[in-house]
Amino acid sequence: MRTQVAIVGAGPAGLTLAQLLHVAGIDSVVLEARSRDYVEARIRAGVLEHDVAELFVQAGVGERVRREGLVHTGVELQSGRERHRIAFDELTARTIVVYGQTEVVKDLIAARLESGRPLLFDVEDVSLHDLESERPRVRFTHEGAEEELECEFVAGCDGFHGVSRPSVPAGILREFHREYPYGWLGILAAVAPSSDELVYAHTERGFALLSMRSPELSRLYLQCAPDEDLELWPDERIWEELQERLGVDGWTLHEGPILEKGVTPMRSFVVEPMQWRRLYLAGDAAHIVPPTGAKGLNLAVRDVAALAEALVAWYRDGHVALLEAYSETCLRRVWRAEHFSWWMTTMLHRAPEDDEFTLRLQQSQLRYLRTSRVAATSLAENYVGVEHA
Ligand code: FAD
Ligand code: PHB
Repeated sequence: MRTQVAIVGAGPAGLTLAQLLHVAGIDSVVLEARSRDYVEARIRAGVLEHDVAELFVQAGVGERVRREGLVHTGVELQSGRERHRIAFDELTARTIVVYGQTEVVKDLIAARLESGRPLLFDVEDVSLHDLESERPRVRFTHEGAEEELECEFVAGCDGFHGVSRPSVPAGILREFHREYPYGWLGILAAVAPSSDELVYAHTERGFALLSMRSPELSRLYLQCAPDEDLELWPDERIWEELQERLGVDGWTLHEGPILEKGVTPMRSFVVEPMQWRRLYLAGDAAHIVPPTGAKGLNLAVRDVAALAEALVAWYRDGHVALLEAYSETCLRRVWRAEHFSWWMTTMLHRAPEDDEFTLRLQQSQLRYLRTSRVAATSLAENYVGVEHA
């Protein structure tokens, strides 16, 4: 097998890259370790920056996000029992689109299948070879047969636990980490969202988030331990705790059947550089943010937008400058999102070791966001993804 770009991983990064390359007439093969059903059902992020939603439209996969995506012009920040709205449209002239990652992935897989270009699910034993040459090779097993794919570039889009990043020889990449002493217990519930907009709540009992997937589906999260035992959380206890944390006077949190629940640990992680020879890392393979800033999926898509542009410049005009600048270009945006996500997370969560001093700092920061247009604008710019040169 031969192709121009071998793409490892069919998450949002790999699939978006495949589509952008297809539109530009560049050939690729996408290799995915899991089944189609599994990747289409994996519930994760829910917020798209306006420019990311627009990128899907321009890449020819935005028909449903345009039709079904919920355009939001702000979010609510709750401190104790008080809520305050951050008006993105007024502060930044931008909006966000609430549209599930599951739907993004379904749209991209449908487009890929329609393009007729290869997307292989259930591949095993993926390994990368000759990355320092101009003809790297990817070996894998598919439907019981050992295969070898010869290519010109490898895009490592295989997430945090993938094989791409560890394929770089030791001593070249530098890793930056931060672990948090909490995680999120997330549920999907068959009940109309109780608020028109997302609510991020800071309480003395810990963080909670009200989000949604559609006019009929609510998505809610509770701060919990990073290794929280779900067995200890029957549905009634989850609703009780959500009522406690999200409750404000004159507002009701509506409950409904819980369709799915899971625990997500939280970490920050960055690798530098995001490229070695013919291997380009993108999305969670190169960086992780805690989900509080809703940046993970957006960063993944923006990485591959930069990579696709660079590959197009190389294949069309022989220009290498954008490929050479790829890591630096992405890392500027990545570190901004890393800071924002860390800041939102530490402002809104209660760590077990946090003292009253930390609580007062958080409350003061939340008050500042309520009372200062400049502070609120800074949050809004980061949340909607305004880029500064
Ligand atoms: P992924 O979506 O991880 O895709 C990588 C793909 O590569 C997967 O399909 C995987 O099966 C495949 N793969 C792995 N190893 C191999 C291999 N060896 N060979 C072939 N394929 C391989 N972000 C938010 O903004 N909000 C959230 O609420 C949120 N919740 C999350 C919950 C969880 C449990 C996780 C893990 C992440 C969450 N994120 C969230 C982050 C967001 O979902 C990710 O940033 C986004 O999925 C990144 O896309 P990606 O394509 O880079 O990686
Ligand atoms: C979600 O809807 O899943 C969601 C929304 C906002 C976040 C994280 C997750 O910050």
